[in-house]
Amino acid sequence: MKKLVIAGGTGFLGQALARHFARKNWQVTILTRDTRAATLAGRLVPWDGRTIGPWTAALENAHALINLCGKSVNCRYHARNRQAILESRIAPTRVLAQAIQELEKPPAVWLNAASATLYRHSLDTPMDETEGEIGHGFSVDVCRAWEAAIYESQLPRTRRVALRTSMVLGHAKNSVYPILARIARCGMGGKLGTGQQMVSWIHETDFVRAVAFAIEDSDLTGPLNLTAPAPVRNHVFMQSLRQALGIPFGLPHFKPLLEIAAWLLRTETELTLKSRFAVPAKLLAHRFVFYYPFVDEALAALASNTPDPSRFPELHLLPNEP
Ligand SMILES: NC(=O)c1ccc[n+]([C@@H]2O[C@H](COP(=O)([O-])OP(=O)(O)OC[C@H]3O[C@@H](n4cnc5c(N)ncnc54)[C@H](OP(=O)(O)O)[C@@H]3O)[C@@H](O)[C@H]2O)c1
Repeated sequence: MKKLVIAGGTGFLGQALARHFARKNWQVTILTRDTRAATLAGRLVPWDGRTIGPWTAALENAHALINLCGKSVNCRYHARNRQAILESRIAPTRVLAQAIQELEKPPAVWLNAASATLYRHSLDTPMDETEGEIGHGFSVDVCRAWEAAIYESQLPRTRRVALRTSMVLGHAKNSVYPILARIARCGMGGKLGTGQQMVSWIHETDFVRAVAFAIEDSDLTGPLNLTAPAPVRNHVFMQSLRQALGIPFGLPHFKPLLEIAAWLLRTETELTLKSRFAVPAKLLAHRFVFYYPFVDEALAALASNTPDPSRFPELHLLPNEP
């Protein structure tokens, strides 16, 4: 039985991964600051995300470590939140690197969360792992420091991958899809701002499959864009969402209105107005096949509650199903 450890695995992406690997008969351990949530997938092991402790034993002889720790970025970026967003990513990443260094049999591969928001605001140029241009500002600074923390230690026995993930579309409560669907159902699902900004996205099923793919493909190393190959403009995304939900119209949200709404909802317009044009060059070069390359199909599958196709591999004979 292969061992997988997921740090910060109690949230949206961690639980999607834990369920997937548990179904594949992996032994899944979750490092969490709160072990009281009994209904979660995976064996919960306590840690504080910043200091070495008995939890390091869970990493011994693991095949893979995935670190997803990070305070949600869906908040106002005032000084206290900025500090928490940064520290909640850097401290767990650093202490995991320290733990790996001290192990007798360290994990063969360590995949660490990162973000496609690292790339600059781009309306017309796709950003891949080699040619993509790095942006500037608070969120980009966090992404740079986060990725630097992944690579700053000498770990010769562990392959490292930085998961530059775009917006993941799934059903988890408080994740972006249910929120957008609720807004669209109220007749408010029109374009955001000019609607010309690019939206990079990935269906939850493909996120999980791409992570599994990166664990198995030992040639994959360094930054990896986890995003569907066909990003779209925001007005197309919102139109596809309305279509998937059978909603004929959606009021647009112009920038000044969005600024007020963001303030009231204690969030930031950057999350919706930045043009994110990331593409998965490495995954495609390694012949990863997406179940959901196109946004209309991904949103239709979510709207109709289509079961996760990776649970029915006989219906989807793709070459790279791990
Ligand atoms: N969801 C997306 O669309 C998306 C896109 C790009 C990147 N990402 C990144 O992927 C990661 C996981 O995303 P998610 O949507 O699954 O997030 P989530 O549901 O908010 O889960 C985040 C996890 O981080 C842990 N955590 C939070 N603050 C921590 C701290 N100070 N120290 C240690 N652990 C801490 C929490 O674990 P405990 O409370 O159990 O300790 C929680 O399980 C995040 O880093 C996020 O930035 C997500």
